[in-house]
Amino acid sequence: MTGIWPFVAANSPTTLSHAQGAYLYLQNDKKILDAAGGAVVANIGHGRREVADAIHAATMNATYVVPPWLTPERQGLVEELRDHWLPQHLPCVHLCSGGSEANESAIKIAVQYQAAIGQPQRKLILARNLSYHGTTISMAGLSGHASRKRGLESILEQHPHIQTPYPLRCPLGPHHPDACQYYLQDLEDTIQRLGSENIAALVAEPINGSSGGAITPPDGYWQRAQEILQRHGILLIMDEVMTGFGRTGVAFGSQLYNVEPDLLVAGKGLAGGYAAIAGVFGREEIANAISAGGFNVMFHTFGALPQSCAAATAVLKILREENLVQRAGVIGQHTLERLQTSFGQHPNVAEIRGAGMLIGIEIVKDRNTLERFDESARVTDHLAGAAMDAGVFFYPGGTGEYRDVICIGAPFIIDEPEIELMETALGAALANLPIS
Ligand SMILES: Cc1ncc(COP(=O)(O)O)c(C=O)c1O
Repeated sequence: MTGIWPFVAANSPTTLSHAQGAYLYLQNDKKILDAAGGAVVANIGHGRREVADAIHAATMNATYVVPPWLTPERQGLVEELRDHWLPQHLPCVHLCSGGSEANESAIKIAVQYQAAIGQPQRKLILARNLSYHGTTISMAGLSGHASRKRGLESILEQHPHIQTPYPLRCPLGPHHPDACQYYLQDLEDTIQRLGSENIAALVAEPINGSSGGAITPPDGYWQRAQEILQRHGILLIMDEVMTGFGRTGVAFGSQLYNVEPDLLVAGKGLAGGYAAIAGVFGREEIANAISAGGFNVMFHTFGALPQSCAAATAVLKILREENLVQRAGVIGQHTLERLQTSFGQHPNVAEIRGAGMLIGIEIVKDRNTLERFDESARVTDHLAGAAMDAGVFFYPGGTGEYRDVICIGAPFIIDEPEIELMETALGAALANLPIS
């Protein structure tokens, strides 16, 4: 008997033959542009031999070594990160095998830090009503992502949520001039209600990933939010699993907003899909306090595999040597403007937004009222399906409650022909909407 993949069988599973550059080749010989970069992961595209060679060399050098020990591959990655990527104030590195694990580790580190500095009662973790931080039991509980909690409600812990700044749907009105103040007040009020002395950290994405579809915050929000958090002794954990390592046109999305998170979590793009690796990067005083408190930051067995470290180092070098981060910014902006010109006024397009090569297209029933299609219409699935027929894989986003967003997270190597292809496929998909 053959096995069933995936666990819950799909109606028509997509079967890949191979992938190269920015393209996927299906078993039925169809060529598809990977405009989603998988799950917004494949930053340098598929099939780079230098990365495969680095993985091979690492495997032959020493196959598995416990994470706390240094190996040439681990040392190489830490040096690459320190010399070229990490903000100066975040020199401490903890490596995990995925974004959910890394977010959990960051939260554990934040709570351990608070305990170490004599604040053990600070155990609440603030998150946001529209967010995604992972799929483990605690990260599913923390996330503001209704559809990924379904059937699990009985075991998921409830965490306090602040409102995700969502300029288009600000309760004061779309892109209201006071939106920034509105969302900051919500943060202040929530802290007041819970008691700042009980809160260890806020976990947030600088720009919402696929849960909201590349929602960028109002100008000035992040800097002022950080001031509020600092005033109350609450750590800021920035979840840059999707926005990290160049996706937004700079190394980390938080740098777009001049904020200095206390802990920064990044994954996907770290090894661009060539290996399962993610990291928590933190301030030295946090590590020092945890050490002085006599606590340990426990590793995951596969958290810093030499092979994964070698893959990540090779990917990061390619990004640097080929100026791909800058390219993500330029080509992303160009893609955004092109799609805005073509579809920005489409009756079913509420907004096309984002930063760098992270772009969200929000679909509505009526662009004047911002009324959404009914969930049962499964508009996002229809659009993504129609785009696949037209040769492009877009990433369907939304949380069930917040829906219909199509995300673009293409490899940074794409050029004019790929932008044209995305435009054509999006046009074909929009022409195909089930209800208008
Ligand atoms: C912002 C964000 N955080 C965390 C995660 C979870 O990462 P992983 O799927 O590697 O566990 C994701 C995955 O999509 C993400 O986008």
